[in-house]
Amino acid sequence: MTVPTIESILHENRLFHPTAEFAQQAQIKSLQDYEQLYERAKANPEAFWAELAEQELHWFQKWDKVLDWQPPFAKWFVDGKINISYNCIDRHLTTWRRNKAALIWEGEPGDSRTLTYAQLHREVCQFANVLKQLGVQKGDVVGIYMPMIPEAAIAMLACARIGAPHTVVFGGFSAEALRDRLNDGQAKLVVTADGGWRKDAIVPLKDQVDKALEDNGAPTVENVLVVQRTQQRVSMEPGRDHWWHDLRQGISSDCPAEPMDSEDMLFILYTSGSTGKPKGVVHTTGGYNLYTHMTTKWIFDLRDTDVYWCTADVGWITGHSYIVYGPLSNGATTLMYEGAPRASNPGCFWDVIEKYGVNIFYTAPTAIRAFIKMGEHHPRSRDLSSLRLLGTVGEPINPEAWMWYYRVIGGERCPIVDTWWQTETGGIMITPLPGAIPTKPGSATRPFPGILADVVDLEGNPVPDNEGGYLVVRYPWPSMMRTVYGDDDRFRRTYWEHIPPRDGQYFYFAGDGARRDEDGYFWVMGRVDDVISVSGHRLGTMEIESALVSHPAVAEAAVVGKPDELRGEEIVAFVTLEGHYTPSEELDKALKQHVVQEIGALARPGQIRFSDALPKTRSGKIMRRLLRSLAAGQDVVGDTSTLEDRSVLDKLREEA
Ligand code: PRX
Repeated sequence: MTVPTIESILHENRLFHPTAEFAQQAQIKSLQDYEQLYERAKANPEAFWAELAEQELHWFQKWDKVLDWQPPFAKWFVDGKINISYNCIDRHLTTWRRNKAALIWEGEPGDSRTLTYAQLHREVCQFANVLKQLGVQKGDVVGIYMPMIPEAAIAMLACARIGAPHTVVFGGFSAEALRDRLNDGQAKLVVTADGGWRKDAIVPLKDQVDKALEDNGAPTVENVLVVQRTQQRVSMEPGRDHWWHDLRQGISSDCPAEPMDSEDMLFILYTSGSTGKPKGVVHTTGGYNLYTHMTTKWIFDLRDTDVYWCTADVGWITGHSYIVYGPLSNGATTLMYEGAPRASNPGCFWDVIEKYGVNIFYTAPTAIRAFIKMGEHHPRSRDLSSLRLLGTVGEPINPEAWMWYYRVIGGERCPIVDTWWQTETGGIMITPLPGAIPTKPGSATRPFPGILADVVDLEGNPVPDNEGGYLVVRYPWPSMMRTVYGDDDRFRRTYWEHIPPRDGQYFYFAGDGARRDEDGYFWVMGRVDDVISVSGHRLGTMEIESALVSHPAVAEAAVVGKPDELRGEEIVAFVTLEGHYTPSEELDKALKQHVVQEIGALARPGQIRFSDALPKTRSGKIMRRLLRSLAAGQDVVGDTSTLEDRSVLDKLREEA
């Protein structure tokens, strides 16, 4: 594990207050209000969450106990009965929101659709009835491998409606990665589309599903439900593959939401860790519903007239919590965009904001850095005056990017919420509440009420202000992950044992380094493990190494992240070859392609460095720290005395 060092931490003292107008109309209006709320939640978290659960959500049956905490396993709202699809749709139908836009969708080639809450209800019910007709029952896992079209959200809500946990796999993952996830989750059915648009090209999603399932690759999958999007030819296996538009003919649009136990599994979402294959992060129903609801409401400062746009893909947790569940539970209008900024259309995001009068815009630092490169004239030539609030997520934002976002996109009037959280946390954990907490560029500021975040050393002692340490959470929260699917032990090891519990106090270990400044503001520095972030996508170095060594030419591989101005990090792979292979440009290409095939384009190494040997300790451990310095073109500093063979390092240095 890397020990966080203070040199790598940002220092930034500028303070930006929300305008008086913003604060007056905000959900949480002042620092004092935030602090009162925070103290109240801290003094009695159960009472705090119970009050909100009662006020904000519909329950078929009230819980008996707010929290059952058997560390590290938590149950929230024990024996409560609830359905998140009901909370996201049905309860709005009896209000004026019935005919309000629930989902606005803009397609990549310029087509668009708007679904009101009443229309969304109809679609979701029909979709749920089709799933049932195909034999999906409560408790069956459904894989969703979809482009960014309304049916992706509809499929999720339909699963939630009938109690079938979904596992959404990002459409950029390869057939192999999809197969692994379907097998781990034991999925019974896969929802996909003939294809999806991605930067002026079509991603052949159905072909990838076929590949994942060929040779009985995922034996639990009985049916594939295919949504028509791109209209290109796909092969349909009789008996297994079905068109959604065929099966929905004449199907009932009546499908009451199933009362679910608060702790019934809502979804599994796979994410990379530092060891082994991706973990299936398990989220359950009641606590997740409440936490995503409250965070959306207070952090994005929702108003009923807002158009809210989060640019993530539904294949990631951000899409789950802040495109689908959080906004819809609040009865908001959520915008979904299929496209992505690209050379042929560098202003497309700003066009969408102008076209729909977007008020709240939530994106990633890597996108902001790309916009800076594309030039100010693109946003400057559009009307962005509808914007009221900006957000960022996924990686630390550098103060320059923050300032650009604030000035050029927000016109110096929109607060920026820099939100720190993870797939595992289910919802945003550290963030400004925009009407209450003044912001500092590069800091996620302060914890959400009810979140006892801290920065500690490996014994769990809080570190002094402005010193680097490990980011932890000291008390359970409603949307925390419940376990790693099928592997309680891995859950325990990965998150709860890095810092040993003491005096009944457990520490959720986030895997991030951070410091807290004298104002109590958190500055997240990035991962302390072997997880790297490329364009905000989280990848385990070991996953990429496994992909590389599965190629016949590769004897050994070590993957590290190299700082990259645009993408945050770039993947650098150090590779030694099997005896009869020699380095060549073709092999370089072939290995990169091999990783793409095994994992997906997001994992393509930026650089492959061939070497006769890798630097190792006498006990045979690869010294990644040295490789990281080499990849970054820095001097190798620190102790190298444990190196088995110094000449390996010298040689690698010469070759650079
Ligand atoms: O390292 C942190 C970084 O992203 C990790 C979580 O990745 P993932 O599970 O894919 O979820 C991303 C979207 C929630 C964290 O451990 N990270 C996320 N948000 C921030 C961040 N780092 C710094 N500042 C943030 N705002």
